[in-house]
Amino acid sequence: MIILIGGEKGGSGKSCLAQNLAVYLQQECRLNVMVVDCDPQRTTSKWVQARNDNDAITRINCVQMYGKIREDLLSLGGHYEAVVIDCGGQDSVALRAAMSVADFALLPLRPKRRDLQTLEHVDDLINNSLMFNPKLECAFVLSQCPSLPNQARRILEAKEVVGTWDHRVLDAITYQRNIYDDSEEAGCSVLELEPDGKAAAELRQIFNQLLQQPNQRAIELRYAHSNKQLEPQYDTRQSIAISHQ
Ligand SMILES: Nc1ncnc2c1ncn2[C@@H]1O[C@H](COP(=O)(O)OP(=O)(O)OP(=O)(O)O)[C@@H](O)[C@H]1O
Ligand SMILES: [Mg+2]
Repeated sequence: MIILIGGEKGGSGKSCLAQNLAVYLQQECRLNVMVVDCDPQRTTSKWVQARNDNDAITRINCVQMYGKIREDLLSLGGHYEAVVIDCGGQDSVALRAAMSVADFALLPLRPKRRDLQTLEHVDDLINNSLMFNPKLECAFVLSQCPSLPNQARRILEAKEVVGTWDHRVLDAITYQRNIYDDSEEAGCSVLELEPDGKAAAELRQIFNQLLQQPNQRAIELRYAHSNKQLEPQYDTRQSIAISHQ
């Protein structure tokens, strides 16, 4: 299973989600995980390095890859049960290559105008990718949401905006919480720092929703391409359900 955390907006929380997803899949789903860092800033590689220097937590495998990485990703996908790709904050050859082979793409956006403005370009990217990779299940997730009750409307409106592009947006969101920043210290994850906390709960919801719910649009496109009966492929979801303990 290959999972891309991507998008076109800097700072939306891609690396943070990729790191926590890798820990979630390794620790809680007991999968054999490889993290691929495609961002020249090396945010996730540095996090893994700090993690692997910390004897108190389990190690995570990580490689850096740039450019035409399609074949390399396919090869990693054959060796690891889960490959988690952190693609950095802009359109790139690596991002397109990752979208051409991924099973899932999780695309974080903050409920802010400038983040939502990237939807037009990301919509193009998704549509192009689905032509070559009809199994790709894309889902947007709202991240770093304000928790004040009078801001709830902004979150709803942002979800509606994503909906107008006919893309799936997860119900689950991340709220702005200091623990996300604090956990990055020493290569740790929110799930390890406060496993019963609110941030850990919202992350588990996000990952479960991403991996276990079918993306209707991808299914329809798959149907349109194959011209067969409308029937989703549940293989990857089944395998994660089985591995989940
Ligand atoms: N839900 C959250 N609440 C508070 N802070 C958060 C949350 N999610 C991420 N952050 C913080 O926001 C900052 C940016 O996050 P991150 O590095 O994951 O973004 P990114 O999308 O990978 O950025 P880039 O485009 O530069 O790669 C980090 O300091 C991270 O700790
Ligand atoms: Mg990043």
